[in-house]
Amino acid sequence: HSEHSQLQNEGVLERIDCRSKGGASGFKVAVLGASGGIGQPLSMLMKMNPLVSVLHLYDVVNTPGVTADISHMDTTAVVRGFVGKEQLEAALVGMDLVIIPAGIPRKPGMTRDDLFKINAGIVRTLCEGVAKCCPNAIVNIISNPVNSTVPIAAEVFKRGGVYNPKRLMGVTALDVVRANTFVAEVVGVDPKEIDVPVVGGHAGITILPLLSQVNPSFSFTKEEIEYLTNRIQNGGTEVVEAKAGTGSATLSMAFAAAKFADACLHGLRGDAGVVQCAFVASEVTELPFFASKVRLGRAGIEEVYPLGPLSAYERSGLEKLKKELLASIDKGISSVRQ
Ligand code: NAD
Ligand code: LMR
Repeated sequence: HSEHSQLQNEGVLERIDCRSKGGASGFKVAVLGASGGIGQPLSMLMKMNPLVSVLHLYDVVNTPGVTADISHMDTTAVVRGFVGKEQLEAALVGMDLVIIPAGIPRKPGMTRDDLFKINAGIVRTLCEGVAKCCPNAIVNIISNPVNSTVPIAAEVFKRGGVYNPKRLMGVTALDVVRANTFVAEVVGVDPKEIDVPVVGGHAGITILPLLSQVNPSFSFTKEEIEYLTNRIQNGGTEVVEAKAGTGSATLSMAFAAAKFADACLHGLRGDAGVVQCAFVASEVTELPFFASKVRLGRAGIEEVYPLGPLSAYERSGLEKLKKELLASIDKGISSVRQ
């Protein structure tokens, strides 16, 4: 019996392999940190994405189980699991998009910068793998502190001689998702109808929602602007405190990351007018990295949009955030250069 099922399995594996190799119409996506609080629901959402033909799930623990589980979903993507350092390269070869939610999350009382020591090393190792095995992939960095981990990734790619700023993005989509939700609550509409640009970075006051540019436009009172700005800037902390030591946002983050990844894939496919906010190499301000609206296309980031007209409140927020954001960027860069 076991011989029979082994033969049967070999046949199935061969056919799956054929399908994944012939998947000219789909993209190959890897999730690094796939067993984590974000990684698991994000992997599930990527398995549901019809643009994905191959899904590689990598982590230092538990990917065999997560992969077996997700691979039973009857959607197109072929799922393969990779566990441990020695399988990182196999996980990365041939990937079009690499999404990185690996790293430790905050506990109450911590800032995102408190995660730097551990997560900087994790992001560095994973990006060294990307530089070696899939230097042309689009890379979405979720691991915190994003304000430092994206500059770290850029430095690692520079060292490897493969840096392409168009292909590296820090994922700030959760800030936009939160802003849309909280603004919709205040305005009294379906959040689907609202689009709030959020610029700057991804920590505390560096998160700057542009409520003067909400689409469709809405005129908020001073109190509403202060309440909304504050709530959006502290959305992460709100979840960290509610989870009381068991972690930070995972489900809303997986949702936001899957939306952002889907936009990257639509861009890669050549769709027109794909615009998202992301933390990218930028000339929009004097800082070397900044989050703003970007247009995604076949090359990755094809256009970084300027901030547009700001209110006095937003201009003051912008001036206040620069010092902290630049310090976080410099900390990331110098950690690799040292
Ligand atoms: P988690 O602890 O639940 O999961 C992290 C996973 O990373 C674990 O499965 C762990 O085994 C794995 N991991 C650790 N080292 C690794 C390595 N070297 N290679 C591969 N995998 C490795 O944490 P989480 O809640 O999923 O959060 C992950 C990260 O995302 C945290 O740094 C968190 O702060 C960040 N985050 C960012 C945003 C954002 O908006 N950008 C939002 C939420 C969370
Ligand atoms: C978030 O915004 O939810 C994440 O950056 C996680 C955190 O630590 O707040």
